[in-house]
Amino acid sequence: MKIAVVGTGYVGLVVGTGLAENGHFVTCVDRDSAIIDRLRAGQLPIYEPGLEELVVRNVEEERLHFSSNLAEAVGEALLIFVCVGTPSHPNGDPDVSEVLAAAEEIAHAMTGYRIIVNKSTCPVGTTELIRDTVKKLTPHSFDVVVNPEFLKEGAAVDDFMRPDRIVVGCDDVRVLEIMKELYAPFLRTGKPFLTMDLRSAELTKYAVNSMIAARVALMNELANICEAYGADVSSVREGVATDSRIGATYVFPGLGFGGSCLPKEVQAAARMAREKGVGYEILDAVTAANERQQKRFIRRVLDFYGEAVTQKTIALWGATFKARTDDLRGSPALRIIDALLEAGAKVSVYDPVAGPKLTALYGDKISVTDKSYDALERADGLLVITEWREFYRPDVERMATLMREKVIFDGRNLYRPKVMADAGFRYFSIGRPSV
Ligand SMILES: NC(=O)c1ccc[n+]([C@@H]2O[C@H](COP(=O)([O-])OP(=O)(O)OC[C@H]3O[C@@H](n4cnc5c(N)ncnc54)[C@H](O)[C@@H]3O)[C@@H](O)[C@H]2O)c1
Repeated sequence: MKIAVVGTGYVGLVVGTGLAENGHFVTCVDRDSAIIDRLRAGQLPIYEPGLEELVVRNVEEERLHFSSNLAEAVGEALLIFVCVGTPSHPNGDPDVSEVLAAAEEIAHAMTGYRIIVNKSTCPVGTTELIRDTVKKLTPHSFDVVVNPEFLKEGAAVDDFMRPDRIVVGCDDVRVLEIMKELYAPFLRTGKPFLTMDLRSAELTKYAVNSMIAARVALMNELANICEAYGADVSSVREGVATDSRIGATYVFPGLGFGGSCLPKEVQAAARMAREKGVGYEILDAVTAANERQQKRFIRRVLDFYGEAVTQKTIALWGATFKARTDDLRGSPALRIIDALLEAGAKVSVYDPVAGPKLTALYGDKISVTDKSYDALERADGLLVITEWREFYRPDVERMATLMREKVIFDGRNLYRPKVMADAGFRYFSIGRPSV
């Protein structure tokens, strides 16, 4: 099948490549010509494990193309996947203007019947708006489909290739058959293909991310209770995670959820509820608890140094909102760096992949190092922000030699308090006794 993917970011590139890998002829389009130029030169604009190999192979096999020309791609394709961004307005309301602008461009470019598949996460009713927008601008017939994407950055290729399920919102049986056929190779292990109406499919994405966010927020709150009562959240977590009604995912306490999805989607779900006058207390509480968790960490660091913070150099290990991605959007690290700079501290940061993005954001306001231990030189404290594998078993003696003050604030509970205490560190983590 010929497919156009509109928007070649974290989702569009993975979706386009994954579909090409399954034999389809895919053109990934982006309005940002720098992204297209890089891809054409064989460079990936994002870091996503396992993706580069697939991109290279499918480009070589001439199944995967990159273009800035939306009209050409839409002119040739039957299926058009919309994967453009849906950020939040400054007040937290979802902004679907990119989706509707893409719909207009698609409408102008259509040369015959098309199926428009919306993969961007949009508030309920947006896909109907897409339909209305396109209808006004084209004489050609078309159908719209909602196909929410559940991939996780850092494991995106695997998630797309081996999904837990495919959700398709659609009200035409022939279109459903085409979507079923498209996804059949991805569901060979018997994972379900769920069909529903447009609105339910749109809402499913918000429901999933709200549940995940609530779990994270609740676990963080429980961790704080552990800390207040001298209990150890690592033990409590094991007791929780082994309960078959609960399970082991998203029960690790930390710095609160970040990224480009969970924070904005919990807020958008609350907004949808508010608009219809139904309850949104839990959703608002999830957002508030998450904010509090991030501020709590910052306050702890600033309180520890007091006024002397202006004389201190604070190192960060990790800056991305989670490991195995270069995505800094919504990362707690940004808020932490901003707070440290505002308090007058010097900041040095090491992240295995996000160094260039950090430099682009902060310039010479912070020092970005290429090696993890370089960030620790003459540092008065280390903040562990992201759970990159390379931070799990550090050379504690080397750390102690490099650092001016032996203090660690571990936002990911990567280390054992006793090991750090034995090495002479003051060690603070989340929901565990400090040493
Ligand atoms: N990132 C994730 O983990 C994830 C997971 C599931 C769903 N989503 C959802 O998928 C959507 C895309 O997210 P993302 O993280 O890939 O965003 P992104 O910002 O990485 O990519 C969006 C891309 O779309 C391009 N674009 C915007 N308008 C365009 C147009 N008219 N024509 C061509 N290109 C255009 C932008 O230049 C950008 O490169 C969002 O709705 C998001 O909520 C994201």
